[in-house]
Amino acid sequence: MSQRMVSDVLNKPDTALEVTLRPSLFSDFTGQPKVKERLEITVEAAKRRGEAIDHVLLSGPPGLGKTTLANIIARSMNANIRCTSGPTIEKASDLAGLLTNLEEGDVLFVDEIHRLQKTIEEYLYPAMEDFKLDIIIDQGPNARSVRLNLPRFTLIGATTRSGLLTAPLLTRFPVRERLDYYGAGELHHIVVRSARLLNIEIEERGAGEIARRSRGTPRIANNLLRRVRDYAQVKAEGQITGEIADKALAMLDIDEHGLDDMDKRILEAIVTKFGGGPVGVGSIAVAVGEEPDTLEEVYEPYLIMEGYLKRTPQGRVATELGYQRLGLKPTGARQGSLL
Ligand SMILES: Nc1ncnc2c1ncn2[C@@H]1O[C@H](COP(=O)(O)OP(=O)(O)OP(=O)(O)O)[C@@H](O)[C@H]1O
Ligand SMILES: [Mg+2]
Repeated sequence: MSQRMVSDVLNKPDTALEVTLRPSLFSDFTGQPKVKERLEITVEAAKRRGEAIDHVLLSGPPGLGKTTLANIIARSMNANIRCTSGPTIEKASDLAGLLTNLEEGDVLFVDEIHRLQKTIEEYLYPAMEDFKLDIIIDQGPNARSVRLNLPRFTLIGATTRSGLLTAPLLTRFPVRERLDYYGAGELHHIVVRSARLLNIEIEERGAGEIARRSRGTPRIANNLLRRVRDYAQVKAEGQITGEIADKALAMLDIDEHGLDDMDKRILEAIVTKFGGGPVGVGSIAVAVGEEPDTLEEVYEPYLIMEGYLKRTPQGRVATELGYQRLGLKPTGARQGSLL
């Protein structure tokens, strides 16, 4: 398998695996303590009032638990959840169909809500705010607008790019929470839990190694756990020790700092092809052969969080740490702009 494919696989959801490993209660959900506490309070208060909860927007990089939290919220409200996503709602009638089928208190989960068409978005505003839907029926001279009353539902939107949401949509979510990358301790806990659910024998050090090298992302931790398990089965007695985890991860080209091949190619491109930056994300994308959107959603946030990259108004700039990671030193001319 090429390295490109390895990093793709690690960031992709595996539906069957996610269903088994996805925590279904707040108490099983590790990490994000503040987000969790705030959401639990919102849910509890709404329950005591016997009302549906306010609309919730969950944002953050892929694989951090947005879909998981949406399901947990619905479950703790004893509400049905209906799932859809921005790009699949093509026509106003698709949205009308979804909304009119909801019952009081239901949760409508809209994944990738930033990819909703603007025309559809406008239908959503009164639906979210006043629980009304104005639809046009018939065509030509008979066309008329009909106002439908909707049940009080909760919209939970998820997005990897909250920056792309329009202000009117954003402000219609009273509850907005952003998920952040997980710490190694939290990921360690998640790896141990997943190993237990999948009947994988793992030592503390093995779990630690996987946790540390999972780019702060539970989905990657779970995917790596399975890849390392394969390695342990073929090369050892099936047990994941620290050493086995280390070897397996090295084989997958995931370095000690958790950077994968694509991360390194991005840093390398900025440093060697563009003199350390500033450079636009479009040029980096061409240089590494990846979609600009994927760079911005998947790779860049982690590289920035770890301090390898900086985003400036002129473009992306490699930091001193970024150079170090490649075993290079920033050139004198560049150093001024690194500070
Ligand atoms: N806090 C957590 N504790 C344990 N496991 C978690 C946690 N968050 C996420 N996971 C695991 O990671 C997987 C991915 O999470 P999820 O699908 O909720 O991410 P997402 O934010 O919706 O990603 P995407 O943006 O790609 O849709 C889940 O199936 C679950 O197994
Ligand atoms: Mg999701």
